[in-house]
Amino acid sequence: MAKHVIAVLNQKGGVGKTTTVINLAVYLKKLNKSVLVVDIDPQGNATSGLGVNKQLITASTKELMLGAAPIERIVLQTEAGVHLIPTSQELASLEVELVSSEGREFNLRRALERSNYDYIIIDCPPSLSLLTVNALAAADSILIPVQAEYYALEGLSQLLEVVQLVKSGLNPDLELLGVLLTMFDRRNTLAEQVKTEVENHFKGKVFTTIIPRNVRLAEAPSYGQSIHTYDKRSKGAKAYHSLAKEVHKRASGK
Ligand SMILES: Nc1ncnc2c1ncn2[C@@H]1O[C@H](COP(=O)(O)OP(=O)(O)OP(=O)(O)O)[C@@H](O)[C@H]1O
Ligand SMILES: [Mg+2]
Repeated sequence: MAKHVIAVLNQKGGVGKTTTVINLAVYLKKLNKSVLVVDIDPQGNATSGLGVNKQLITASTKELMLGAAPIERIVLQTEAGVHLIPTSQELASLEVELVSSEGREFNLRRALERSNYDYIIIDCPPSLSLLTVNALAAADSILIPVQAEYYALEGLSQLLEVVQLVKSGLNPDLELLGVLLTMFDRRNTLAEQVKTEVENHFKGKVFTTIIPRNVRLAEAPSYGQSIHTYDKRSKGAKAYHSLAKEVHKRASGK
């Protein structure tokens, strides 16, 4: 298959972006796809969640985006089998350095151009910043996790506006891969209402797979493990396995 770059984004914090990046990546790998995760969030949660000690990182997303080191020198092999471009704290200053560089929206796209993976999954920070714009310029498609709660749709129109701007200028081929409901609690009637609302708003674009609220998903990152390693029988594991199949189907147009 042709390489497919997915940016996982929502400028709202704590909606399940990183959890989705880690576990989607691991289950795509289980489908025998080669997968690279790119952590562009200065918080570095995808990096630590994949079991990498941030203290020991010598080259990261920063060097990648500044073209200071070739991708082969930065990529780490994680225990889960997916490759990772890690983040260290220095990424926070990258944004400032980028602002003055020419073609600053395309640094990530340029850096990833020659790499050969079936899937590249980008974990975005909770902001609509230059880093996020770099992800949108580099991506074939976007996946938006939405937490099934009262203010779920708030901020999404602003997000879609930015996506539209990127489409009309930097990246005309950018597509919405899908919207993913996360932390869903079936016992909660409000969650059902939010689901209906999101489905009406994003007709045909909401993934059939819904990620349930599952404490095992919240526990796994503190052990640096994916949900597959931590508890492959959990509801969270089954949901992300099913999401990977659905994502692959959509991304490969089958
Ligand atoms: N389905 C779930 N069930 C229970 N807890 C979850 C689930 N998904 C994520 N969490 C927990 O919720 C918190 C936020 O999730 P996560 O870090 O994936 O969100 P995020 O959107 O990446 O956050 P940020 O915007 O800070 O980067 C984390 O503590 C995570 O472990
Ligand atoms: Mg995150």
